[in-house]
Amino acid sequence: MCQAEPRRSTFVATALPFTAASPYRDTPGDTAPEMFYGRTEELAAVIDLNGPSFISGGRQLGKSALLRAAQRRFQESGPGRHAVLTSVFTVGGDGRPERLWGALWPLLVDIGVVDGVTLPEGADVAEAVYDATLRWLRVDTSRALLILLDEADAFLDADAVGARFIHVDWCRRLMLDSNRRAKVVFAGLHRTARFESLPNQPLSHLGRPLTVGPLRPQHAHDLLTKPLSTLGFTFDDVIALPARILAMANNLPALLQLFGEALVEHLTARPVPDGGPPQQISGEDVDDVFFDPDLRAAFREKYVLTLNLDHRYLVIAYTVAEAAHERGIDASLTLGELSEMARLHWPAGFSGVGADDFNGLVTECVDLGVLALDGGGYRLRTPYVLRLLGTEEEVLETLYTAPERLVRPSTSDGGSYRRAFKQIRSPLTERQLGRLFDARREALVIVGSPGSAK
Ligand SMILES: Nc1ncnc2c1ncn2[C@@H]1O[C@H](COP(=O)(O)OP(=O)(O)OP(=O)(O)O)[C@@H](O)[C@H]1O
Ligand SMILES: [Mg+2]
Repeated sequence: MCQAEPRRSTFVATALPFTAASPYRDTPGDTAPEMFYGRTEELAAVIDLNGPSFISGGRQLGKSALLRAAQRRFQESGPGRHAVLTSVFTVGGDGRPERLWGALWPLLVDIGVVDGVTLPEGADVAEAVYDATLRWLRVDTSRALLILLDEADAFLDADAVGARFIHVDWCRRLMLDSNRRAKVVFAGLHRTARFESLPNQPLSHLGRPLTVGPLRPQHAHDLLTKPLSTLGFTFDDVIALPARILAMANNLPALLQLFGEALVEHLTARPVPDGGPPQQISGEDVDDVFFDPDLRAAFREKYVLTLNLDHRYLVIAYTVAEAAHERGIDASLTLGELSEMARLHWPAGFSGVGADDFNGLVTECVDLGVLALDGGGYRLRTPYVLRLLGTEEEVLETLYTAPERLVRPSTSDGGSYRRAFKQIRSPLTERQLGRLFDARREALVIVGSPGSAK
C-alpha cells in the first residue's frame, strides 16, 4: 500500500513467481503488447506519415509483429487516426493486382472511410477508395489513415509486370494528394526489397526502406531477461548466460520466444526450492533446454525457412559453412571467393547472375541475419548458426546434392495458394478462383472427382 506508482507492475512481479504463468509464445504475427520488445526506430518510421513505405525481411524476423504494433501505436496516437492492417498474400498471384482494393474495401467500411458495404458495381474500385479517403480526410483535419499491407510480394510482382505499376501509383497519388495524411506501407520478403530498388517504381523517392533483421542486442537481452525476472527467475551468471542464449538465438525474436517458452517449462517442472522465489537459472538449465532435440529442430526449421526463400541463399550460406568447418568458425570468404565456390556447387542456380546480382544476394544474406561482413570477408554470424546448418558431413551433403535438389526461385507463389474453408482447403487455387469471379463474361467448366467434393 505504501508503494508509489506504478502499482500494476509491482503487483505482477510479486504475484507471478507463485504461479505457473509463461508469457513466451510463438504466435506468428501477433505478439502481445507486453511481450513486444525493441524495434523502436522501426515503429517510429512505420507510423511516421512521411516515413518509408517498404518493409522487408526474412521469414519469421518479426515483420507482421511490427505492423501489428504499429497499428496499435498509430491508433493510440490521437483521435481520428485510424490504421488498417491486412495480409494481401492472395492478391496478385493470379496476375490481378487490382484485387488489392477489393481486399481493402471491407476494412475501410469498418472504420467509416467508405460507406457502401458492397463494392461499387462496374466502377474503378481504386478510384472509389481514393475519392472516399480524400473526402473522409477533408471532414476533419485531425484525421489520418495508415494502410498496412502485409505479405505484399505477389501483389508487387504483379503490379510490376510490364513496368506498369498502376496500383502502386494509385497509392502514391493517395499519399501525395492527401498531403501525406494517408500512407500505404507494403511489407514482404526479399521480393519486396527488390521491388523497392526498381528505379522506375512510383514510390522510389518516398522514404528510405526499412529492413527488419535480428533484434538489437539490448532489446534481445530485455526480451530474454525481463519477463524471466518478473516470473521470479534470475541467471546465476548475469553476463555470460544471457550472452550465450542470445548467441544461440542469433538475436532473432522468434527463437527467443521458443527458447523462453522451453526454459520456463523446464524451470517450472521442478519443485520450488526451500527458499522460494526468486530462483536461479544455472548453466546446466540452459544446456538442458538447448540440447533438447525438439527445440533444436524448431530452431533449425525457423532458420531454414529463411534460406529456402531463395535456394541461392542456401548455397551461399552452406558454402560459408563449408569454409567454417574446414578452417574454423572465423573463416571468412571474399565476395570473389564466395561467388566462385557457390557457382561451382550449383552452376545452374547462378547462371546469368552477374557480379552485381551476386553481391545483392550476399547483402540480402547479411540483412537476413545469416552472414556477417567482417573486414571485407563474409563469415557466419555465430558458431550456433554453423551448428544449426549441420555437421561437416551434412553441410557437404547439402552442397553436393544441390544441383539435383534445388530450384531457381519462381517469381510468384500466391497464385497456387489454396484458401481454407473451415477445416478444408479449397479445391481451387487462388488463380482459378480469380478467374472464376472475374467480371469478364466467359463460360467456365469446372470438372472434379467425387473425392474433391468431400
Ligand atoms: N519485437 C518482437 N518482440 C518479441 N517477439 C517478437 C518480436 N517480433 C517478432 N516476435 C515473435 O517472433 C515470431 C515471428 O514473428 P512474425 O510472425 O511477426 O514474423 P514474420 O516476419 O511476419 O514471419 P513470416 O515471414 O512467417 O510472415 C512470433 O512468434 C512473434 O511473437
Ligand atoms: Mg508475417
